[in-house]
Amino acid sequence: MAIRSGFPGYHVAMLQANEFDGRPGVTDTLGRALRDLRISVTDRCNFRCTYCMPREIFGRDYEFLPRDQVLSFEEIARLARAFVGLGVEKLRITGGEPLVRRDLPDLISMLAGLRSAGGTALDLTLTTNGSALRALARPIADAGLRRVTVSLDSLDDAVFGAMNGIDFPVAKVLDGIAAAQDAGLAPVKVNMVVRRGINETSVLPMAAWARDAGVILRFIEYMDVGHSNGWRLDEVVPARELVEMLSSAWPIEPADPLYRGEVADRWRYADGGGEFGVIASVTQPFCRDCTRARVSADGKVYTCLFAVDGHDARAILRSGATDAELATFVEEIWARRGDRYSELRSAATSRLPKVEMFAMGG
Ligand code: GTP
Ligand code: 5AD
Ligand code: SF4
Ligand code: SF4
Repeated sequence: MAIRSGFPGYHVAMLQANEFDGRPGVTDTLGRALRDLRISVTDRCNFRCTYCMPREIFGRDYEFLPRDQVLSFEEIARLARAFVGLGVEKLRITGGEPLVRRDLPDLISMLAGLRSAGGTALDLTLTTNGSALRALARPIADAGLRRVTVSLDSLDDAVFGAMNGIDFPVAKVLDGIAAAQDAGLAPVKVNMVVRRGINETSVLPMAAWARDAGVILRFIEYMDVGHSNGWRLDEVVPARELVEMLSSAWPIEPADPLYRGEVADRWRYADGGGEFGVIASVTQPFCRDCTRARVSADGKVYTCLFAVDGHDARAILRSGATDAELATFVEEIWARRGDRYSELRSAATSRLPKVEMFAMGG
């Protein structure tokens, strides 16, 4: 499809309103399709993880978004529908901590009703810190969520409490994970950010626990997102080293990606103990196959986790634009996209202004 340039001065008059659904998929300047949308439903979080929202900076006085600046569920669902019409097949609800958004199951029911351009159900999932899963796993599953990913950085209370910044106990997250499993949210994945000298010693205990618990653990290289975490390269534990640690404890073998552009490299335990993943965004960037767009809680569309600025979809949504105009807005953003921050990462790029991860939705 031809790209119309310069929103709002483009030729949407030529489009029919019903073009909202089923447009041919759009590709960016590097030939990458638009397949995943990560939607942040709030910038708030009850944790203060040191690598994301350090307490010294995001303590009591930090001003989160006022409510009128946050997209309503209707606005989110309408925007998501535009993305789905352009080829998105996976929707991930993020935050901040998404489960602190009131009535979240209502939004999930709205999103669960969407169908991909090919008519199939979407992969509808959510990333959470797990603290509210005991209460909410069943309601979100009943609303149509298919699976969840829970963040957990250690099984040791002292280590985890220091990393989550509020001394939140491990047992409560484990209980939330069990609640998710009981509610049929499958598979449950667990994300562990590994920081040199902080939670490296938690790697093997976490792996042993995940094998028993039947969850898919993924080790994430600590990234230079945002400006607040004081990131240093020497705190990154390279994925290669993590794989070596695992292979010293169990026989493992590489597994094929489940789809092109999968973020995690998959590994299988040769003894039938399931699988784990490593997310090597620092040492082995995967921008070449990056098909992800992000929407922040205040309705900005970001085409890269490390983007300097977003595109204001809230203004379009609140301007009385038609569905076709909204779709064209998204299509143009994607068609102009050329981001590949992690591949370019250098001393120069790391000094560029960046948006905090909790604000853009991990
Ligand atoms: P699955 O759909 O279950 O495979 O999940 P996923 O790996 O796509 O999503 P998840 O939210 O679990 O991502 C795990 C982590 O990988 C994130 O928290 C980020 O740390 C990192 N990550 C995800 N997407 C990107 C990306 O586009 N760029 C970079 N640099 N890192 C990413
Ligand atoms: N580096 C890597 N992963 C991060 N996350 C948050 N901040 C960082 C960072 N600096 C992860 C969390 C969670 C997901 C939303 O993003 O652990 O799993
Ligand atoms: Fe909250 Fe997740 Fe950020 Fe931790 S990583 S502070 S749980 S948004
Ligand atoms: Fe995608 Fe940007 Fe991450 Fe590269 S750095 S994988 S382009 S989000």
